[in-house]
Order: sequence, then C-alpha cells, then structure tokens
Amino acid sequence: MGGSPMSSGQPRVFVTRRIPDAGLALLRDAASVDLFDSGMPPDRDELLARVAGVDGLLCLLTDRVDDELLDAAGPSLRVVSNLAVGYDNIDLAACARRGIPVGNTPGVLTEATADLAFALLLAVARRLPESERFVREDRWVTWDPLLLLGREVSGQTLGIIGFGRIGREVARRARGFGMRVLYHSRSRAPEPVETELGATMVDLDTLLGTCDVVSVHVNLTPETRHLIDARALATMRPGSILINTSRGPVVDQAALADALRSGHLFGAGLDVTDPEPMRADDPLLALPNCLVLPHVASATDTTRARMAEKAARNVLAGLRGEPLPDAVPLPAV
Ligand code: GLV
Repeated sequence: MGGSPMSSGQPRVFVTRRIPDAGLALLRDAASVDLFDSGMPPDRDELLARVAGVDGLLCLLTDRVDDELLDAAGPSLRVVSNLAVGYDNIDLAACARRGIPVGNTPGVLTEATADLAFALLLAVARRLPESERFVREDRWVTWDPLLLLGREVSGQTLGIIGFGRIGREVARRARGFGMRVLYHSRSRAPEPVETELGATMVDLDTLLGTCDVVSVHVNLTPETRHLIDARALATMRPGSILINTSRGPVVDQAALADALRSGHLFGAGLDVTDPEPMRADDPLLALPNCLVLPHVASATDTTRARMAEKAARNVLAGLRGEPLPDAVPLPAV
C-alpha cells in the first residue's frame, strides 16, 4: 500500500494485530482499516512499511513506537493508540515532539488484572501448581497432615507497590481475605480511599521488610526498572512471596532466582517476564516455587473486548482532532 490517502477519502488506520471485533467494528465505521491479520506481531520491516502514510495507528505492547517508526509513518500520523494500559513500548517524547497524542486503555482491565494478581497470590501461597502436578503424576496416596503445606493467607500482611487503580483493587480483594494492607506509592491516596481499603502508606523498605506478600503495580519507567533488585529482595521478609503483574523488567530475574533458590523467598508469581516470551529453559522455570504465566492478566473475553473498544475510540478521537478519551500525559518538549 502506498503512502497517499485512499480515494475513499476515509482516514487510514493500521492495526498491528488481530484484535477483538468490538474494536475493529468501531474503526471500520469511520476509517479504512489495514489489519495485520495475524496472531503474531509484524516484524520490524513489515511494521515500518505498513505505517507509511497512515493517519492512525492502533498498536500493541509488542510494537516499539519510536522516532524510526514515527518517521516511517510520516506527517499524516495523527494518533497512536496502545491496546494496553501500560505504554513503555512507546517513546512518549518522540510522539510529543511531533504533536501526536497517545492513548491507552485504563479502567476496563482493572478488575481482571487485580483478580489475576490475587489468583497468583493464592496459587503461590497454597502451592497450587505443585499440588496439581502431584495428582497428575499419580503421587497422591493418602491424606497426609504434612503434605504440601503452604502459607496461610488470612491474617497476613500484603504490601502493594504502586497504588493506582489496579493496586487499589488488589487491596480491596485482600481485605476480603482478612489481610492487612500496606502500600508504597509516589503519592498518598486520599484519606477516604485509605480508610475504605484499610490501607496504610509506608516507605519502600518498611513495606519490603514487613509484608508477607509483596505485589507490584507500577508502570515501567527508568526509575522502576529493577526496582525489585537483589537489595530489595534481601530486604523482603524471609519466607515471603513476590507477585508481579506489572512489567517484567521491574524485577531483576537473576536476583529473584537466587532468592527463590536459597529459600529466602517462599515463592513468586509472575505474569510478566523479562524478556517476553520467557523460554522454557529459563532458570526460574526450574524452580518449583516460581509460577509464571504468559502475560494474561487482562485476558478475559469481556475485558479484551472493552480494551479494543477503548483503543478504537482513542483512534477515532485522534482522527477527528479531538482530545483522546484516555490520553497518556506527554512530556513537555
Ligand atoms: C497489559 O499488560 C497492559 O498494560 O494492558
């Protein structure tokens, strides 16, 4: 496809992957959609070629949006819409320099993501993967008072790092499980939120040194890369659990493997890894106390449809020159 607008006069939008129909239908009502109709991302050359001359881009967290890509798209590009709440794949300064708004999909995936963080917490604390393997391997011979003992959840202290929408929903679930909640965040939550969720703000080291479970809910930025490093892991309580549903690079995986191997941590549950995908021969997967999922926190039919709709609405607003319903704040340039 060339770089000039289509004869229909409709704006052109490139969608970098097969996405739920709900989003595609909205886009197709108002734009000429070029869909990369695949379950795999376009390779870099294909991506650069397909964005040439488009008016809108609906991309995924697997697509790197940087100066090179924006140059390849050219001056027609009026909006970049990420089908994700996270946007570390997008060079925001590069978009800001070109006056291109960036959209994301907050809100609609909050519950699903908090549910999955809690599912990981329960699965690691109660050793579900090991227990399930035990049955499948036909090793279950009797009820045994000492079999597969895990960690009590009720009455334990949960530490939430990053107290935005998702972190707060995790706190709400924790309350239902009779947990005490501490949090660490850049800014303090309003008092009514703290009261409703029974959450107390503490500094990072206090959180790490106090909590039985630590769950991470921060954006990936230069400041949060390897926030959970060897030092942070050593600060965590012996026998505690780490849960990460944010972005893989927030955790130093080599240091985590050491902390799990030595028994300093009871276990870890990761929905995100560095890199993604994690290969099956990764040292973490050799450890029975590490549960790894393939980045599926928002993977419910309802949530993914809502994300696709949101991403589409951001594209459509950008094409009309209107403020995006969910705009990522861009840095000043
Ligand atoms: C998924 O990781 C997202 O950021 O929405």
